Amino acid sequence: MNNTLTYDLKINGEIETVTAPAQETLLTVLRERLHLTGAKRGCDQGVCGTCTVLINGEPMRGCLTIAALCEGAEITTIEGLATPEALDVVQQSFVDTGGIQCGFCSSGMILTVSSILKNNPKASETEIREGISGNICRCTGYEKIIDAAVLAAQQINGAGR
Ligand code: FES
Ligand code: FES
Repeated sequence: MNNTLTYDLKINGEIETVTAPAQETLLTVLRERLHLTGAKRGCDQGVCGTCTVLINGEPMRGCLTIAALCEGAEITTIEGLATPEALDVVQQSFVDTGGIQCGFCSSGMILTVSSILKNNPKASETEIREGISGNICRCTGYEKIIDAAVLAAQQINGAGR
């Protein structure tokens, strides 16, 4: 039985036609077929959050998501946040505070923080900490990551400029 499917994914505003095994994960499609390698493969078991992408604005585990089921959804990867002119406010905050650190967890962290602040621009530090609790920083450098998220919130809310 041939279980290969062809389907369209909307990624960062562009339609990509994918032909892949029916059970292939979104993480594999992104990294190995579309060469969007910003989403990282860490545990590949839904635990670490390095594979996080936004699906209809919500952070989801790319390693646990069947790509073919994402047809019709808006998928955002880290490659889709910046414009050619400037980084997204959350990306810039990670750079400015040093929260970018090793870079391996960063795309998942940044996308998760983006989603938190989009849903709740006035999120408190506690709410931010809870919101990123599913994203693991293996080097345990959470403080600068939190600083980055708080700075981004201030920027979004017009303070701290
Ligand atoms: S690689 Fe997906 S949660 Fe770790
Ligand atoms: S900064 Fe990436 S794992 Fe800690």
